Amino acid sequence: MGAGDKINLSWPGKESVLSGQNRRAEKLKQMVYPRPLTEKTLFTPEIKERRIEPDGVNRSFLGDNLEVMEQLIGAGYENNIDLIYIDPPYMSSSNYHAKTVVEGKDYKKTISRLVFTDTWKDDINNYLTHIYPRLQMMYRLLKENGSIFVHLDWHISHYVKILLDEIFSPRSFVNEIVWCYSGGSGAGKHFQRKHDIILWYVKGPDYIFHPQYRPYSEGTRQRGLTQVKGDKYQLNEKGANLQDWWSDINKILSPTARENLKFPTQKPMALAERIIAAASDPDSLVADFYSGSGTTAAACEKLGRSWICCDLSPLAIDTMSRRLIKSKSRPFSIETDKEYIKPDNAGIKIETTTTQMGEDTIEINIFIKEFVPRRENVPGDSPALFIHFWEVDLDHDGKDFHSDIQVLRNTAKYDDSLCLDVNVRVPARESFYIAVMVHDLWGDITMARVKIESMI
Ligand SMILES: C[S@@+](CC[C@H](N)C(=O)[O-])C[C@H]1O[C@@H](n2cnc3c(N)ncnc32)[C@H](O)[C@@H]1O
Repeated sequence: MGAGDKINLSWPGKESVLSGQNRRAEKLKQMVYPRPLTEKTLFTPEIKERRIEPDGVNRSFLGDNLEVMEQLIGAGYENNIDLIYIDPPYMSSSNYHAKTVVEGKDYKKTISRLVFTDTWKDDINNYLTHIYPRLQMMYRLLKENGSIFVHLDWHISHYVKILLDEIFSPRSFVNEIVWCYSGGSGAGKHFQRKHDIILWYVKGPDYIFHPQYRPYSEGTRQRGLTQVKGDKYQLNEKGANLQDWWSDINKILSPTARENLKFPTQKPMALAERIIAAASDPDSLVADFYSGSGTTAAACEKLGRSWICCDLSPLAIDTMSRRLIKSKSRPFSIETDKEYIKPDNAGIKIETTTTQMGEDTIEINIFIKEFVPRRENVPGDSPALFIHFWEVDLDHDGKDFHSDIQVLRNTAKYDDSLCLDVNVRVPARESFYIAVMVHDLWGDITMARVKIESMI
């Protein structure tokens, strides 16, 4: 075969793959400084530490990753990312829902929300036309020594491997990792399908790899201790080098597991941690462009890596934000397509009461008096029922939203128990604005803005 005669995959539509540049949705930028509250609290924030520039801060995007990656390339991220992990739809021909029981005084209903679809009109061409330009973009975003881990399963991994061979080159393939798990098994005229495939490709030969270890088996340990094979077979105190099949991390199966965020297809933290620890350094930038519940971001927080995350589903970005806020992560930004935001003050009523506390300080009580989500009517006087969490910007500039306080539910239940007011003490100024952002059960955002006037 001559140069240019590379083996590659062709399908109807390959030549017409889309670019995201024709749809530039208007965005709202949010900076989140995690300070979670679950009950009414008097809060005195250090306003000076706010307003850091989003550059260099961990970033998340609510939107189509094709458009987001183009935006990142335009903003200078080409050849800049050390590690990309993606867990895209698998061509599983399923729709994925999150179900929640909402229960108020006179109201009880199970609400099912579509998180994402993985149906592709049952046509593999549609799937390939989706993933191909995105993998090309990821190639451009990776550094010369960067790695990509693509998490799939038996449905489509063999096709995507050929695309990766074409985009990266067959020589850039490092491992096919088999992630084995257990769990309920249905009937079927086949062996139970209990593994996923994670394809690891690198851009260049000098990629990062930190070996990972597993405990020795009892037999090896005994042989090591008795030194049957002599001195040169000393056991490594870290354990044995990990193979390319991983059976020591299970799926998140228990509905009551602490890690379980009720996000369909959520992957275990331990899996993300292993990949990040193996293929990145502490100063690395890690990206996940199908980030779901934010497992990659949470693992990066734990391991001290910088991160970029993107998801098309507002429920995914909300799940990730709440997860990071709850664990008091470093500040992060969210760029949200404005289509998810209700027009100012629609369906929401905020009451504020201001008390002068000496010359320099005022105390403000911020109270959500009414809240009606876009997609459901709230029964009676239950504004809390459909709120996932809410946030306050204590000095809203009329443009970006700086989240100073976040009020979260204390339990996983959607009931009336969510706290609806907080007290804050802030420096007295002639007049300024407070903004409240409410995230509801569907991932829609409602914003309200209130003018505060001190008596100075
Ligand atoms: C398998 S889930 C990822 C789960 C994730 N690894 C976790 O641990 O929670 C796939 C995600 O890809 C998102 N997605 C699908 N198409 C997308 C697109 N074009 N841009 C961004 N995200 C997309 C879906 O909304 C879904 O959250």
